[in-house]
Amino acid sequence: MFSRVARPSLAICSSARKFSSSSQNNAKVAVLGASGGIGQPLSLLLKNSHRLTHLSLYDVMHTPGVAADLSHISTKAKVTGHLGEEQLADAVKDADLVLIPAGVPRKPGMTRDDLFNTNAGIVRDLCSVTAEVCPNAILGIITNPVNSTVPIAEEVYKKKNAFNENRINIFGVTTLDVVRANTFVAELKGLDVDKINVPVIGGHSGVTIIPLLSQATPAVAFPQEDRTRLTERIQNAGTEVVEAKAGAGSATLSMAFAAARFAYKFLDALNGADNKVECAYIRSTETPAAYFATPLLLGKNGVEKNLGIPKTIEYEAELIEKAMPELQANIKKGIDFMSQ
Ligand code: NAD
Ligand code: LMR
Repeated sequence: MFSRVARPSLAICSSARKFSSSSQNNAKVAVLGASGGIGQPLSLLLKNSHRLTHLSLYDVMHTPGVAADLSHISTKAKVTGHLGEEQLADAVKDADLVLIPAGVPRKPGMTRDDLFNTNAGIVRDLCSVTAEVCPNAILGIITNPVNSTVPIAEEVYKKKNAFNENRINIFGVTTLDVVRANTFVAELKGLDVDKINVPVIGGHSGVTIIPLLSQATPAVAFPQEDRTRLTERIQNAGTEVVEAKAGAGSATLSMAFAAARFAYKFLDALNGADNKVECAYIRSTETPAAYFATPLLLGKNGVEKNLGIPKTIEYEAELIEKAMPELQANIKKGIDFMSQ
């Protein structure tokens, strides 16, 4: 069993990451896969934010059109479109934050791991360029299978000598699991969703998604039967959307919302805002798995502290145990891919 006691903070950031801009709210954010189902609404949400001065859109198709369209919106961020491999370096140059939703989505009957063969190579190739051009930028990887694509990205950085063992700048975006948990709890309990926070730890697929309903704030009580049902709904929520879309892809709009929330938290923290905490999937020593999502305290340098696994009840500790084989296999698959 893993510790059920809240762990003291683990400082994981020591290098001086400088927000590349000198004044407030002038970040460059790049979206790789910007023309896709997630990329377009995510880019709209980013363009609508005061936190950016430059929104850089990269894809292998349609970016001139998406960029032209967004550029007419009367907010301050300059929009640039970059098309095809030869324009990737320019797209990510001087980026503070790079969000990666490039890759294929699931169809009904598929697991996220079934996307590995296509998406592993896409993430590897994109990260080869970010490792060279903007090695210090914060990377938010959305592309599935997240449990494997994050280890792939870190292995690329190691190969390119861009890996900093004292600083974590590569994150798997698991925010949608938190967003869903908050939504479902609010619906079930008739609470204001804006005031709810449910930590979701682990990974981003099936049993590796571990909502800690016992740690929701404000506290909510469930009979075990309801807790189990709700936990399973959160774990299967991606599949719920895939089936409802019936072959037309997976979650895009809710994912764009979640990725924008992730981006805003990081950008606010980089700009000096206090107390920004977000769960994300990172390399970790919290469990036997080399990568594990936990709540992270964000700051000017990215991650200030890994807040560790919150206190859990017996049922949740069992969920962590149950997640280990799949999570470790997914991580190994990513690392093995890069050692070929
Ligand atoms: P989509 O097919 O609508 O869009 C993907 C985009 O990626 C397309 O525009 C495509 O041209 C682009 N692309 C493909 N190869 C590329 C490359 N080499 N360089 C740049 N761009 C490239 O798919 P989507 O619905 O936007 O989903 C994208 C990914 O996000 C999928 O892998 C999906 O499983 C994943 N996803 C993750 C989460 C999460 O919670 N982390 C949630 C939803 C979806
Ligand atoms: C999700 O959770 O919605 C995404 O990971 C997409 C998927 O394939 O379920």
